[in-house]
Amino acid sequence: MERQQIVKMRGIMKSFPGVKALDDVKLDLYSGEVLALLGENGAGKSTLMKVLSGVYMRDSGEVEIFGRKIEQDWNTTKAQEAGVAIIHQELNMCRHMSVAENIFLGREIIKNGQLDNKAMNEETAGILAQLGMDIDPRTVVGDLQVSKQQMVEIAKALSKDAKILIMDEPTSALTSKEIDELFAIIRKLRQEGKGIIYISHRLEELKHIVDRVTIMRDGRYITEMEFDESRMDEIIAHMVGREIKEKFPRVFCEKGEKILEVKHLNAGRLVRDISFDVYAGEIVGVAGLMGAGRTETTRAIFGVDPKESGEVFIDGKKVSIHSPVDSIKAGLVLVPEDRKKDGLCTRLSIRDNISLPNLDILCNRWGTVNKKAEGEMSKKAVENLKIKLPNTEVDAGSLSGGNQQKVVVGKWLARNSRVVIFDEPTRGIDVAAKVEIYNLMNNLKQQGIGVLFVSSEMPEVMGMSDRIIVMCDGKITGELFHDNATQDRILTFATRFENKLEQ
Ligand SMILES: Nc1ncnc2c1ncn2[C@@H]1O[C@H](COP(=O)(O)OP(=O)(O)OP(=O)(O)O)[C@@H](O)[C@H]1O
Ligand SMILES: [Mg+2]
Repeated sequence: MERQQIVKMRGIMKSFPGVKALDDVKLDLYSGEVLALLGENGAGKSTLMKVLSGVYMRDSGEVEIFGRKIEQDWNTTKAQEAGVAIIHQELNMCRHMSVAENIFLGREIIKNGQLDNKAMNEETAGILAQLGMDIDPRTVVGDLQVSKQQMVEIAKALSKDAKILIMDEPTSALTSKEIDELFAIIRKLRQEGKGIIYISHRLEELKHIVDRVTIMRDGRYITEMEFDESRMDEIIAHMVGREIKEKFPRVFCEKGEKILEVKHLNAGRLVRDISFDVYAGEIVGVAGLMGAGRTETTRAIFGVDPKESGEVFIDGKKVSIHSPVDSIKAGLVLVPEDRKKDGLCTRLSIRDNISLPNLDILCNRWGTVNKKAEGEMSKKAVENLKIKLPNTEVDAGSLSGGNQQKVVVGKWLARNSRVVIFDEPTRGIDVAAKVEIYNLMNNLKQQGIGVLFVSSEMPEVMGMSDRIIVMCDGKITGELFHDNATQDRILTFATRFENKLEQ
């Protein structure tokens, strides 16, 4: 098949109030290739893709698709008709509607003036089966796990028979098996001559699918090159504008007093008799496969989900935590996995997001907020975490994905917490910001704050934790120390299913 240029973008400019998101950006895409669009959080990747797919109108610049110039009045409908499909970074589905209803949204099958649900369900089942997805088309999307919702989003884009497919961090919530399935699909689409633009902060996955890369930084085009794994350091340097020396900047601290102790915690099927402790001066990693019960454990400790039994001690004192408010008061805070749903109020300003859980500190005894202290608190959080934003008054939802995550962390660091639980804190975060989050955990550790670090990415759990507990099927199945932790050992514990052994 002859290689044909299918997208040509030149001199693209796009500003938002206070931010120049795109400044003279160019991009080329050819048929039958996977192009990785790389750059740090806030570089402008999603914005550029929203311009291409008609979500945003560009301020100026030229765009050609299949050699045809697209006009200024380009919109999502026209983009779809031209064969452009996009899987957005943040899940974009109607949670109360079924899988089939979501997939056919806006192009429903109508028979005799009525929705033909049977036909839509059947067709959806066909699409899902083709993709090897085991999901009932009638399931309400909100009831699905995040990873399944993401797969539905992918199915939706594929069902439109797109010729240009944009995937904005499709794998951030997927299990490794689902990622393999997705990569198989991507390879098939490439073979069929489609053009795929792929955005991801998981740089180690690029080698499996990517042909070429385009790199952006601070809203500008930096360079493009053939993808070559051996040039990864060079690629990162282009993204970040400097070299990143240490990927996992672990620091050594003297182990201090016991800060957190959890004893025989039970809460539902995935939290069974969990006992562990965290000392000052250490980061305790929690490893395990998707569905091992790690998130459920953090939620039960933090008081989001009810505990059936078990005790929690902080600084040797028994605390009774029935809700997140109890937990925050006791000095234990959680940076949740799903930041959009549980971690942020996307319609509120950055300042409000940071002050909201800290009103007890910021209010005087008559209940009015000390505006000056509030302003200082958010300013400090922004500076400490190097959050990239025009000012603290903008909506949290307008920040790039990684910067949103930093706001979630920032609001907890503003108060004197004793234990911070991080659940997948680096998901969707760029290489440089990851190192910032690691340094942040180090800082807490050095200040004698207990850090519990749940992560599905083996290299980072091994790289940053002093001790690692491994979970499988709702139980703790093993414990390793920094020096004796290997990927194999973790996996052995992570797959130690009781039932299998009994059979
Ligand atoms: N709707 C919006 N309103 C205001 N500012 C916006 C909006 N969308 C994006 N921005 C700003 O434009 C810049 C580029 O954001 P964009 O989301 O394109 O980054 P990104 O490269 O996709 O980052 P990430 O890797 O974190 O997803 C950021 O500074 C962001 O705050
Ligand atoms: Mg983005």
